[in-house]
Amino acid sequence: GGMGAALRHDSALRHTTGEARFLDDLPEPPGLLHAALALSPVAHGRLSPIDPAPARALPGVVAVLLPADIPGRNDIAPAGSGEVMLADGLVEYAGQPLAVVVGETRDAALAGAAALRPEIAPLPPVLSIAEAIARENWVLPPQAISRGDAAAALAAAPRRIFGEFRAGGQEHFYLEGQIAMAVPGEDGDVAIHSSTQHPTEVQHIVARVLGCAYNQVTVTVRRMGGGFGGKESNASWVAAAAALAARRTGRPVKLRLSRKADIAATGKRHPFLYRWTAGFDAGGRILALDATLAADAGHSLDMTGGVVFRAITHALGCCDVPALSLRALACKTNTVSNTAFRGFGGPQGALLMEDVVHRVAKAAGLPPEAVRARNFAGGENGAETPYGQALEGDLIRRVWAEAKTDSGWDARRAEIAAFNAQHPYLRRGLGSMVLAFGISFGQTHMNQAGALVHVYTDGSIRLNHGGTEMGQGLFVKVAQVVASVFGVDTDRIRITATSTAEVPNTSPTAASTGSDLNGWAAHAAASAIRSRMAAVAAKEWGVAPDEVAFADGLATAGGNRAMEFGELARLAYLKRVSLSATGFYRTPDIHWDRATMRGKPFFYFSYGAAVAEVAVDTLTGEHRCLSAHLVQDCGRSLNPAVDLGQVEGAFVQGMGWLTCEELWWDAEGHLRTLGPSTYKIPGSRDVPPVLRVRLLEGAPARSETIFRSKAVGEPPLLLATAVWNALKDAIGTDRLDAPATPERVLMALHGR
Ligand code: MTE
Ligand code: MOS
Repeated sequence: GGMGAALRHDSALRHTTGEARFLDDLPEPPGLLHAALALSPVAHGRLSPIDPAPARALPGVVAVLLPADIPGRNDIAPAGSGEVMLADGLVEYAGQPLAVVVGETRDAALAGAAALRPEIAPLPPVLSIAEAIARENWVLPPQAISRGDAAAALAAAPRRIFGEFRAGGQEHFYLEGQIAMAVPGEDGDVAIHSSTQHPTEVQHIVARVLGCAYNQVTVTVRRMGGGFGGKESNASWVAAAAALAARRTGRPVKLRLSRKADIAATGKRHPFLYRWTAGFDAGGRILALDATLAADAGHSLDMTGGVVFRAITHALGCCDVPALSLRALACKTNTVSNTAFRGFGGPQGALLMEDVVHRVAKAAGLPPEAVRARNFAGGENGAETPYGQALEGDLIRRVWAEAKTDSGWDARRAEIAAFNAQHPYLRRGLGSMVLAFGISFGQTHMNQAGALVHVYTDGSIRLNHGGTEMGQGLFVKVAQVVASVFGVDTDRIRITATSTAEVPNTSPTAASTGSDLNGWAAHAAASAIRSRMAAVAAKEWGVAPDEVAFADGLATAGGNRAMEFGELARLAYLKRVSLSATGFYRTPDIHWDRATMRGKPFFYFSYGAAVAEVAVDTLTGEHRCLSAHLVQDCGRSLNPAVDLGQVEGAFVQGMGWLTCEELWWDAEGHLRTLGPSTYKIPGSRDVPPVLRVRLLEGAPARSETIFRSKAVGEPPLLLATAVWNALKDAIGTDRLDAPATPERVLMALHGR
């Protein structure tokens, strides 16, 4: 059960039988109260102090908490400060929390929240990116990356075209919604159970809101029913609201958002608006690019800085453009504050180059995949990103060649042409995508992790680390790392809940770095214990410590010395040797200069390629993805079963973003797609009937990654861009905004 074994997820059986406990399944402590949020019905306005009386008059309502009831600061900003938990005087989006109502039952709390009558004097809301740009409404100053003299290169290019398009946001739609339970302890201490990707940030924000020290707050998370980035910062204020209610009532409080409240009040993927001018030659080489990528941040900063950074550093994808001027805008609008979502701006960045490639190909009369390949980084083109980090051109070419072969590209093309020539109203299309995704947190200091390993005297092992489990299979992967250090089976290792009391000062489980960072930290902890155990065995046997090997549940030396792992643990205990260790890891060799926007922000890049075929009904605008062939570079996969699942899931989630998931706001700024009846995530029948996923074989990992593996959580989401490209191929249009819903496909077909 060590490295590279295709073990199933450690909770796979419990997930399917329903025995896996999510937060709402935990036994409820005696005296538990329930909280509910009152949300703003208005997108922008002046809020008068709320009268709590109508809620308090209802049976079962215990407390109505308003900004004045916050003992610490009304500030839940994950980066910097100045983002309120409860609106105070000013409302900035429809769905913004105004009050926390606490009840003996959840229904009483919900009835109390519904009884409040907030008075809001409306102000005009800003509801579009274009309007925010016109008013220069930013949550953050514009960022820019340039290379050479883009204006001169554009002027000198044989041909130029201009493009504009949009990509929509995306609701996380985790199966388990946002939830937290706060249990008050002595002297103002509080224990928090949270469905969070970032226990340490929950700890910090609870402490900030309560006005206490970090050491008074303990945060635990066993697992999430999905996070996808939506529980990186939003889980913190949900927990802080529960903690506030627990502090004010002196009783345990649970806050579980309804699906509607969750969609209304929590951030989503950032929608983007793109405007660009490209200069190119008859061979399809893109010589110059001037582009603006404008992100809809919503009403506040949240993590928009990082999202915009990833968008601008991924805007050329796997391509090279010699002269370039890129600007990224972080637009402030009166909508929910957008946040992390699988890919974290990377998918939005990559769409820019894909649109440019598609349009240049049409203008030059070349196939888009030929234009992309003509501009691949490396080879005859430059290999360095405009911010100064090298891409691996050979791997880019290799994943593309393999995906092309796997899909039988040329035969598919011929079949599609024959089909389209015959069919009166169905149109088939073929599209591709090649990705390069940088792995590391954009904020260099966040690339660190800790672990805590105990070996007990029966030879069983307890593993804890700062990473959280959201379904992605992190826990089994890190257990495999520890098992292979000790040379034991993974079932000897107890996987435990993430806790700020066991491993402190952690980074979120995000940016696909979970197994890279926590894997190495656990490796360090386990290796420390193993060396001590080896020294004990060496002394016992009169051999050198480095002669002691650990494999198959045994410690051995030479041909004739062997001890069962548990026996050695007991011996170490009797010799008064510690069997517990912490481990720490920081990613080496990464740096970034914010002033010049240059450096090596990523430890390495992940590569992948895809081919997708679609069929479009030109009468209704509906489509099906008929087949997809994906090749993803995972280095030497830690666990190919988990990694294949991640690639499949990410691809289908990406399809949802680009084709069927549409967030729709009315003219007053109310989000009207608040549930599965109006917001369509991909279902099992949207998965292409032919979905072939392959991990790149013999993939080189050139950096010192854990057992030469590569991260997998986010990159393959970008492969779904192949479906968007296939749709454009099928309908032959220049512009196709995402999501490519049937309406948009019809409008594109009819030139509107
Ligand atoms: N897979 C499942 N099943 N559920 C999730 O919530 N989140 C994704 C990805 N895969 C997610 C998932 C996101 S956004 C990230 S950043 C990574 O998992 C985080 O985990 P890792 O760093 O351990 O890959
Ligand atoms: Mo993932 S968007 O980095 O949580």
